[in-house]
Amino acid sequence: MKIVKSVAEMQGICRELRTRGVSIGFAPTMGALHRGHLSLVQRARSECQTVIASIFVNPLQFAPGEDFAQYPRTFDEDCRQLEAEGVAVLFAPEAKEMYPSGAVTTITVSGIGDRLDGASRPGHFTGVATVVAKLFHIIAPHRAYFGQKDAAQIAVLRQMVQDLNFDLELVSCPIVRDADGLALSSRNRYLSFPEREQALVLHRALTEIEQSIAHGERRSSALLQIGRITLETATGIKVDYLAIVDARSLLPEASAERGALVAVAAYVGRTRLIDNLLVA
Ligand code: PAJ
Repeated sequence: MKIVKSVAEMQGICRELRTRGVSIGFAPTMGALHRGHLSLVQRARSECQTVIASIFVNPLQFAPGEDFAQYPRTFDEDCRQLEAEGVAVLFAPEAKEMYPSGAVTTITVSGIGDRLDGASRPGHFTGVATVVAKLFHIIAPHRAYFGQKDAAQIAVLRQMVQDLNFDLELVSCPIVRDADGLALSSRNRYLSFPEREQALVLHRALTEIEQSIAHGERRSSALLQIGRITLETATGIKVDYLAIVDARSLLPEASAERGALVAVAAYVGRTRLIDNLLVA
């Protein structure tokens, strides 16, 4: 696996691949990789002739006071895993390579970017959209792979791809979970043993909502009430949001119809976790 740190070199490699007609699958990450990240790479490998991954802890998507400095960095182990999954090139730039002094242009996806996580973390999705747009320009992949775990991120990026005419297919991959249901996340490393147990309530609340839907309850107000009781009676949990929204616009839905997104964010101790389900 080739590790590339410079934008110019990465652009050169991708230009050459495209000239040769090689299809490029791209999986952007912030590292501290787990099976969720690797599932994106595996999907890309099955659908594209070459796979490029990136590791970049993007300072622009962290607000002051968030966990940018503490964010887990496990670069050598990440490289081993990506190499074992058959990644051809890893793009791992330094911050000053992506944001040289004087860079001032950002991308804001209005409306959608201010909902769910965008409401709780102002500016977060401008940081995400800006870095992903830059990565798309540098790599120009045929397909780009993202996890359904970050459902709001996918909605924001789909809108950006449409509005800015990126010539690529954005592929959404299912949430990978631990055996007990906890959605894998780089931030799970922050959890103490008791917090890891407490965190299971996110998936439990979603499962209860899913079961109520299966029993015929579609009213969002009733479903949210069920989820809220579960979350609010759990110890060590502070709910950020629990919402039933349209998966593309992220606007609230009065009824949980097929394709609606049930999304939750909560603090477990000081760690903010998210999870969601798409209504079947
Ligand atoms: P990061 O949190 O490292 O996640 C990288 C990709 O892995 C995202 O598309 C995310 O949705 C996916 N992912 C994370 N956990 C997953 C799980 N349990 N199952 C399936 N997929 C999972 O998301 C980001 O980085 C950044 O915002 C980024 C897009 C790289 C821009 O900086």
